[in-house]
Amino acid sequence: MPLNPRVLSLSKSATLKITALTKKLIREGKDVVNFAAGEPDFDTPDFIKQEAIKAINHGFTKYTPSAGVPALREAIAQKLNLENKIPLKPEGVIVTSGAKYAVYVALSTLLEDNQEVIIPSPYWVSYPEMVKLAGAKASYLAADEKDNFKINPLHLEKAINHKTKILILNYPSNPTGITYTYEDLKAISAIVKKRRIYVISDEIYEALLYDGLKHYSFAALPDMFERTITINGFSKAFSMTGWRLGYLAGPEEIINQASKMIDHTTSCACAISQKAAVAAFKYSDWVEESRRIFQKRRDLLFNGLSACPKITPFKSQGTFYMFCDIRKTGLNSFDFASKLLENHLVSCVPADAFGIDGFIRLSFSTSEEQITKGIERIKNFFQE
Ligand SMILES: Cc1ncc(COP(=O)(O)O)c(C=O)c1O
Repeated sequence: MPLNPRVLSLSKSATLKITALTKKLIREGKDVVNFAAGEPDFDTPDFIKQEAIKAINHGFTKYTPSAGVPALREAIAQKLNLENKIPLKPEGVIVTSGAKYAVYVALSTLLEDNQEVIIPSPYWVSYPEMVKLAGAKASYLAADEKDNFKINPLHLEKAINHKTKILILNYPSNPTGITYTYEDLKAISAIVKKRRIYVISDEIYEALLYDGLKHYSFAALPDMFERTITINGFSKAFSMTGWRLGYLAGPEEIINQASKMIDHTTSCACAISQKAAVAAFKYSDWVEESRRIFQKRRDLLFNGLSACPKITPFKSQGTFYMFCDIRKTGLNSFDFASKLLENHLVSCVPADAFGIDGFIRLSFSTSEEQITKGIERIKNFFQE
């Protein structure tokens, strides 16, 4: 049957096999330590849940304006102005069904057929597939381990050609946990300005930064506002993955066009989720507490793995992921992850899913007790 070649070209998630095996083992009652999670393990905070219950009881259960509930767009614009120093009005914000869809809307709005998008590698699994779906071509720019997995501006400049329209930035990064300093971003912005490309800056992990590091939004850099779409959402900071709520923000001439995509695809993000999220920004203490817990877990995992032979963890500066070099084992990522799961019941994500072999991603979105147990099992794995 002839189907859309763009859809046919999409890869099935490379992590699927490991995830399916993890689920099967758990169903069978096996005590799996799950380092493969892509979401916070905390419950959504009560102050948000209560707002959702109120919204339902008050009948706030119908379509909202397609770009989002005015109070939420206002709250997001205010947050972006105050915290991120991005000079935005509420009209520059669109609320979407998850940040993932916000990335897709941004790509589809900016891209013409056969243009190119530079994706730093290792990358979050969905970027290349969304670029393909939008009818464009992904061009990968290796972010070298010796540069701490950050892109080198000289390499960036070389990677740009006349078809290049967009650079995707994601920091703190899934999967490496690394972030960019202000100086790093300044150097990238000089190239972006010179070569007149656009940036989609996915800052969904901005709230989870450790050791006193500060987050700088790309759109706030001199001359970058007009060239940047900022992506963020509620999934990671407020443990709201299932509520499907994210946003894109940027220059109004782009946002106005992008909102037509919402009109004709999803109509709007979930009304109840939107109403509840208006309350979210008032509770920065909750976010800070979860950040503190994640930092403690990161230290536990990093110190534990550092004491294991043949695995080199990179100390995450943010997110809840730890990227590890396993090349000394002589195994490829997939075989390493499969053996660790099958023989020692520890689940992790092989990094071929992120465009690089010889690495794995461990998530510390699990309790300290589980982390300690997982480290013991990994040590046993190496003793074999
Ligand atoms: C880098 C990155 N961007 C976006 C998302 C999507 O988040 P959401 O749940 O809001 O769609 C994720 C989720 O894993 C992510 O890791």
